[in-house]
Amino acid sequence: MSAVYIETYGCQMNFADSEIVASLLQKAGHTVASDIEQADYILINTCAIRDNAEQRIRKRLRELRALQQRHRQVRIGILGCMAERLQSQLMVEEENVSFVVGPDSYRSLPLILDRVRQENVKAAETQLSTTETYADIEPVRLSSNGISAYISIMRGCQNYCAYCVVPYTRGRERSRDPQTIVDEARSLFNQGYKEVTLLGQNVNSYRFASLDGNEVTVDFPELMHRVAEISPLLRVRFATSHPKDLSDKLLQVMASHDNICKCIHLPVQSGSDRMLKLMNRHYDSAWYLDRIAAIRRYMPDCSITTDVIAGFCSETEEEHQMTLDIFRKVRYDYAYMFKFSMRPDTYAAKHLHDDIPEAEKTRRLEEIIALQGQIALENNRNEIGKTFEVLVEGESHRSKQQLFGRNSQNKVIVFDRQDAQPGQYIHVKVTDCTAATLKGEIV
Ligand code: 5AD
Ligand code: SF4
Repeated sequence: MSAVYIETYGCQMNFADSEIVASLLQKAGHTVASDIEQADYILINTCAIRDNAEQRIRKRLRELRALQQRHRQVRIGILGCMAERLQSQLMVEEENVSFVVGPDSYRSLPLILDRVRQENVKAAETQLSTTETYADIEPVRLSSNGISAYISIMRGCQNYCAYCVVPYTRGRERSRDPQTIVDEARSLFNQGYKEVTLLGQNVNSYRFASLDGNEVTVDFPELMHRVAEISPLLRVRFATSHPKDLSDKLLQVMASHDNICKCIHLPVQSGSDRMLKLMNRHYDSAWYLDRIAAIRRYMPDCSITTDVIAGFCSETEEEHQMTLDIFRKVRYDYAYMFKFSMRPDTYAAKHLHDDIPEAEKTRRLEEIIALQGQIALENNRNEIGKTFEVLVEGESHRSKQQLFGRNSQNKVIVFDRQDAQPGQYIHVKVTDCTAATLKGEIV
């Protein structure tokens, strides 16, 4: 039997998918290699969200040529969004790739691996599905610390934001049977896990209608409730939510369970109503701010994080200032900040112009980053003196004498270890901070 080495790039969904791939291949008799030099197959799970994500994969493929010179038997396969976007064209452009498999075709991987080797052919499998959720596959926890794990609960997206390639690479939305989700979370808890993160491209539009006659629909708040009920010692997180689907019902469920973490990632993308409309986001800044106010009403201690794009098509200086304004109003605890990158096939590529010069995009992005850095630092300073329940995750990267963990708000806290152990819940009083990290002591 052969050894497979899996390398993963991109979002949490990709990391969760790689664990499904590992499971499917192990079932077929392959082993997952931890050393790339030992591998018969190298699988690269890829991201296509921005051009630089794709360039990084292409660079990695060039680096792997040397290894292929040494081990002529090794075959390279591309999985994930870049495989779906480029399909067999990718094997023409990148000669050292033997197969491409899209996100809904992972069940065919064992067959493809055999064919590629035995028949010495190239293969592409990129059919998208409206039903595949891999609900029956128990993921092999590849990069896990044994404390927190991802559970993929829905796949795909059909929001068609004008800039976004995801609807084309991941197909239509579909939700996984809630019973299989609760079972997976319970099994993780019984194995000693203390935290699960429910994942979906658009997690809060989760909706599953049972097919057994007596029609019951499980929506995202109901699912969260069911997972949170497994045990008060199991923390529950989720990502990513779309502002248009952020219901009061979800906020009520979050507020009523201490073990549902008080942290919401709510991508804003822009502070300008004209940009939001052009982006096809289905909300305006007033709606977004109303959702922020609702979060604060139900959970005054909830942290809020976001995604934002600088320099989308035709964005004016004034519209960029509106983005800075909304950052000042919301005061995010963390933000993922990007320059707009035009993606083929999207609405933007077909109908809009990528007309903001690169240097100008960079300037706008840097302004957002600088403002956000200042806000995050101020937010963290407000935490000094407070005591939080922290789930210990492991040793601090800086010092063996220190451990780190996260509070419910998902903020990293570093503290002197004393006799605390990873996997424990402890209480830590915050004594100091940077923009990125809290420092504290066990109380
Ligand atoms: N250019 C820049 N950023 C993008 N994102 C999605 N598509 C693009 C693009 N074409 C960002 C959005 C999204 C996050 C996952 O990536 O902010 O929320
Ligand atoms: Fe992309 Fe918009 Fe779907 Fe998010 S909601 S994956 S940004 S299309």
